Amino acid sequence: MVTSIAGPSRLLMAAVLTTIAAAAVAASPGAQQADKGEQAMNVSCTNCHDLRPIQTQALDTEGWTSVVAAMVDKGAMVDKADLAPLVEYLV
Ligand code: HEC
Repeated sequence: MVTSIAGPSRLLMAAVLTTIAAAAVAASPGAQQADKGEQAMNVSCTNCHDLRPIQTQALDTEGWTSVVAAMVDKGAMVDKADLAPLVEYLV
């Protein structure tokens, strides 16, 4: 009868799973940042207008930083932590 997988094998298994998980996270830091930016845009930038004015602009980092700052002046709620990913996503 096979009672259970022996201790050392289980440890190895856990180590392998942890490594795979870590690799998966490391593989997509850019994608995660973009997701965060997209979410921030969908939450913060659609209260007053739709996405049209955003989609029809092609700006660089500086340009979007000042547009976002202008929108915050108008009343847009953007979390400080979301500013960088948001601007990166918009660029
Ligand atoms: C409190 C309301 C409000 C929110 C929230 C808001 N906007 Fe705007 N946005 C406006 C108004 C009003 C205009 C149009 C006229 C103007 O420029 O004053 C505008 C215009 C724009 C334009 C057109 C170009 C320009 O500068 O006029 C862009 C691009 C834009 N918004 C991007 C954004 C982004 C990105 C966000 C999220 C960070 C956002 N908006 C959130 C009110 C808002």
